[in-house]
Amino acid sequence: MTASSSADPRLRFDSDPRFGNALAMSHPSPVVRAEPPIDGLVLHAFTRAELPERFVAPLVELQQTRLRERFPEDPLPRTAQMALELRAPAMAAWDPRFVLAEAGGRLLGFDEPGVDFEDNPQQLWLDPYVLPEWRRRGIGRRLVAKAIEALSEHPIRSAGFSLVPRDPIGRALQARVESGWGLAPAIVGRKGRLYLSQLDREAIAAQTAEREAALAPEHRALFFELDALPAAETGFDLADFCDMVQEIENLMPLEDLALEPERFSPERFHALTAYLRGSGLTMWNYVAVEAATGRSLGLTNISFDPEDPRRISQWDTGVRKAAQGRGLGKTLKLLMLRKILAELPEAKFIRTDNAASNAPMLAINTALGFREHHRELGYQLPLADLCRRLDIAAPDAPPAPIDASG
Ligand SMILES: CC(C)(COP(=O)(O)OP(=O)(O)OC[C@H]1O[C@@H](n2cnc3c(N)ncnc32)[C@H](O)[C@@H]1OP(=O)(O)O)[C@@H](O)C(=O)NCCC(=O)NCCS
Repeated sequence: MTASSSADPRLRFDSDPRFGNALAMSHPSPVVRAEPPIDGLVLHAFTRAELPERFVAPLVELQQTRLRERFPEDPLPRTAQMALELRAPAMAAWDPRFVLAEAGGRLLGFDEPGVDFEDNPQQLWLDPYVLPEWRRRGIGRRLVAKAIEALSEHPIRSAGFSLVPRDPIGRALQARVESGWGLAPAIVGRKGRLYLSQLDREAIAAQTAEREAALAPEHRALFFELDALPAAETGFDLADFCDMVQEIENLMPLEDLALEPERFSPERFHALTAYLRGSGLTMWNYVAVEAATGRSLGLTNISFDPEDPRRISQWDTGVRKAAQGRGLGKTLKLLMLRKILAELPEAKFIRTDNAASNAPMLAINTALGFREHHRELGYQLPLADLCRRLDIAAPDAPPAPIDASG
């Protein structure tokens, strides 16, 4: 299951004379290129559990600055919620790190690299951010080098990152990697939004009631929040539900990404709900089940901050292959929409993330009123190529498997 989150106001990163004229860089890093040094620059790498308390507030502020730069019109998530999320238990099989660039007690940039160490241990995901006034001085390069070093216990061979060509820096970076480096996006994410104030509520209510009636007698819809699973007498079975999520994950187009689909299991379900709860978020699920058996056929789920539900994140929507074509997917989304409208009056928008090639999902979303908000371009390249492009010393390649044939 996938989705994203993010942040509060108060820009206070004006240029600071203490860091203006650079002298020596205090921290040796595996960067090959000689950059003009930044006085007192230190690179840190932490696991979630290790992140020192003194970095929590500055890191949240930096995340908020990033959000404001990219989505200036959006409400920011609550500061307290974002702080919780930094400390939340990691999702199953995901090894997330914090890499921080600090100078004189201030954070100038960060990255939250990670590796899915069970399904795709060769794949490093990067997401560096440097404060606008500190860019083009080699901090981004150093963050990437530090991330590679921090996660070197994994057999990483490939690097992946996303760009949002929405603001000037996103467009400049897109031009750099596409025209300069010769990369093409491996996946194009279409990030959609449904602004609830624009909905025709009566039409939604009528359509939902009609479709709900049409569910019976073969199907019924079950609702549950986080891990408060439907009662046993409904026939709901968590292992069967996870099997359905797995089937849905496998149906989602990965376009040209060289990746194994993530696996899903009851253990991962519990790790996901622990992560959400630890982050101060909740998750609502609607499941379409076969009325006679309780077998899970389809799902839609969202997450949000119950204390500030202005931003709602759509997670998965999907129907088992064998149950497709019966209108279950759209019915589930309508039921969810009705519940959001009734119970979360503060909600402003629902955001979705679909592969641009996912025609069936996009058709449902468009019919419900979702419109494309921006695109996110995902790139993947061999780690050695990224290191060469950025003038970073490549880590020692993991030993090649021994060829038994001699
Ligand atoms: C991407 C980012 C972290 C780079 O930070 P930085 O400290 O400016 O990067 P560096 O000075 O170390 O530059 C490293 C390389 O990045 C690329 N790059 C950085 N800024 C660029 C720009 N404005 N235009 C084109 N290429 C750029 C170049 O390849 C550069 O190498 P070069 O010096 O040989 O041209 C920074 O621009 C940023 O925070 N952008 C907004 C967030 C974002 O989109 N992150 C990308 C997620 S993958």
